[in-house]
Order: sequence, then C-alpha cells, then structure tokens
Amino acid sequence: MSKNINVGVIGGGLMGREVASAFGRWFAINDSKVNPSLYAVADLNKEALEWFNSVPTCKLLTDNYQEILDSPEIDVVYVAVPHNMHEQIYIDVLNSGKDLLAEKPFGIDLGSAERIFETIKSSGQFVRCSSEFPFFPGAQRVYEVAKSGEIGRILEVRSGFHHGSDLDPDKAANWKRQSKTCGEIGVMGDLGMHVCHVPFRLGFEPRSVYAQLQKGYPDRPGGACDTWDNAMLHAWIDVDGAEPVPMRLEMKRMAPGETDTWFIEVLGTDGGARFSTKEPRTLWKFSRGKEQEWRRVDLGFDTPFKTITGGIFEPGFPDVLMQMWAAFFAEREGDLNECFGCVTPDEALLSHRLFAAAIQSQQLNQVIEIT
Ligand SMILES: NC(=O)c1ccc[n+]([C@@H]2O[C@H](COP(=O)([O-])OP(=O)(O)OC[C@H]3O[C@@H](n4cnc5c(N)ncnc54)[C@H](O)[C@@H]3O)[C@@H](O)[C@H]2O)c1
Repeated sequence: MSKNINVGVIGGGLMGREVASAFGRWFAINDSKVNPSLYAVADLNKEALEWFNSVPTCKLLTDNYQEILDSPEIDVVYVAVPHNMHEQIYIDVLNSGKDLLAEKPFGIDLGSAERIFETIKSSGQFVRCSSEFPFFPGAQRVYEVAKSGEIGRILEVRSGFHHGSDLDPDKAANWKRQSKTCGEIGVMGDLGMHVCHVPFRLGFEPRSVYAQLQKGYPDRPGGACDTWDNAMLHAWIDVDGAEPVPMRLEMKRMAPGETDTWFIEVLGTDGGARFSTKEPRTLWKFSRGKEQEWRRVDLGFDTPFKTITGGIFEPGFPDVLMQMWAAFFAEREGDLNECFGCVTPDEALLSHRLFAAAIQSQQLNQVIEIT
C-alpha cells in the first residue's frame, strides 16, 4: 500500500501546471511507496487558478496562500513564484510546519537564501530545491563515471544550460528579465541551480570565480529589461587534494541555435563522459587507450526510478520532472538509498555564494575568492 501525500502548490504558472501533470500520471512509476495528489493551488491570477479546475484531485483553489498553510490535509508545499516572493513564502511555509519543495534560485539573493537557510535549521522541516535535469539517465551516468575514479586525474569540468529565445528582440519582457523580480543575479538565478547541482554533488566546490556576464536587449515589448542574460563562470575547484581543476559553468538566455539545452562534461587523464539533452538517450564516453576514443552509448529510458515506459524509449522534460519528485518523496520517507537526491539547502546556499562572487567579479574584473 502506498502512502497518500497531499501537496499544495503556491504559484500555479508554468511550473505549477507541470506538477499537476507529473502527479496525474504517477501510476507510471513502478512500485512507488507514495501516492502524491495535487490537493490545493494558490495563485493571485484568476486565469492561472481556473486552469486547475481540470485536475480532479484539486479540492482548494485560492488567491490566499495562507489557506494552504492552514489546511491540516496538506503535507507538502511546492512554491513556484517569482524570485522576489521566495523568501517570504518559503519562511511562511516552514513556520506553518509543512515540508517544502522550493523552486530555484532559493531566494532572490545571498542574504535572502541565508535567512531561508536559518529558518530551515530552526524549523526542522524537510526541504529540497528543484533541479530536474540531472535525473536524465545520461546525466546520472556522467555523475557515476565522474565519481568512480575510473577516469584518472580530473582535468576539466564543464556544465551548462543554454536557451536562445532572448535572441528575438520582439520577445516580450517578463519578470525574469527584471532585477527587482528576478534578482540582480539574472540568468544565474534563472538557470544556475540546474548547472551547479551535479558538480556540487560531486564535491566540486568552487574556491574562486572569474565571471563574464553579458546583458541582452535593454528594451522589449512590455518593458525595460536589466538582468544579466548570459553568464560564463570560470571557477577553480579542488578535487581529491590534487592540483586545482578548472570548472566552467555556462548559463545563457542568448545562445544561438539553442532552445533548452542542458549539458555536463567531466574529463580526466584516462577517461571522461559527456551528456546533453540535445541527445536525450545518448551518453558519450571517452577512454584513453592505444587510440583516443569517444564511444556513443545508447542508454534508452534507464531512469533512476523505474517506470512502465519501455527501456528503449527517449526520456524528456516531464519524465525527469517526475523523477525529481520521486527522489524528493523517497528522501522525505528516508528511503532514497543510493539514488541521486534533489538539491539540498546547503547546495542552494553555496550556489548563491558563487553567484554573489560572480557579480563582484564582473564589477571589479577580478578573480574573487569564495569564502
Ligand atoms: N525547475 C524548472 O525547470 C523551472 C522552470 C521555470 C521556472 N522555474 C522557477 O519556478 C518559479 C516560478 O517560475 P514560473 O516560470 O512557473 O513562473 P510563472 O510566471 O509562469 O508563474 C508564477 C506564478 O506565481 C503566481 N504568483 C505570484 N505571486 C504570488 C503569490 N503571492 N501567491 C500566489 N501566487 C503568486 C503568479 O500569478 C504566476 O501564476 C521561479 O522560481 C522559477 O525560477 C523552474
């Protein structure tokens, strides 16, 4: 018998709807010990709320998120609102005694992330931060290869997330392009957590950073835009006490030719591995032998949490989002075992330290030590 878990969503926009979709086909996960239902949604926007009328499990639609926090029926709250609202709402959720899956970047800036972190510690609630791309089978395999020790001395790490829609000057302005709602960290807040999750989990903690930040179009239909659109962070990391290793983190909203490409590459003296969502079931493995060789491995649907989907098929965004939620619930039940887990509050805080240092690096055109 699986355990029923009622989830309340605060912020029923793009990501709030994705959660409804993930829970709506939860039966696709084999032998799940939990059975999550979308029980309630809070949103200030009437049209956003009305969309959830089509979700049969949804019992409460409200424009006041306090009603979700007051409901004894709700076990877990997922918050997907603009970044300027994170701190207040996350802290209110924690003070209500409910567990939280928080959206990235986990507060609008470092100070905000620190205050959320302190409240997590004092509340004792279970909290994780959203980042789903590492749940692609290929990403999992890069992680396994990198931590196995089989690739020799690690020489270089590259992790990135490229979007291209901001290349279009006619794309409308929205809250993600304005510092007051997205944060001064701009694209780093938008895409950075996705890029940091696997490297941080591998223990690749940046010691210093040199940042190259670029802005996009200052004016778009519907308003001014002032956030950083592209970020290239050149960091030094320590790996196993050996020579420092360069790690490049790339976050771009203006990447020619890209719609939504997440990738990771770890290279060592004896081997390496690379995965990109452009080829969703493909793992590239490097090995150094008599000849230098990149081998293409066709992985199929080998997700961490097994599903009804045939092993030969391709995984996509809705699949890995569901996998991320499966990891969240498994860890909350103390049942994650060896599986890869969601971003922890420590990792989210570390990402903010890195992004704050990157802003400073850009201002001073200098390498900044991360303390
Ligand atoms: N994990 C991912 O892949 C991913 C993708 C996109 C966005 N995000 C993150 O999700 C969060 C939301 O982004 P989005 O793209 O869904 O935004 P969105 O603009 O589509 O939706 C946000 C919703 O929050 C609502 N809202 C604002 N203030 C509110 C309040 N006080 N109470 C209730 N509702 C409120 C808005 O009306 C809107 O419907 C952000 O933190 C963003 O960084 C994550």
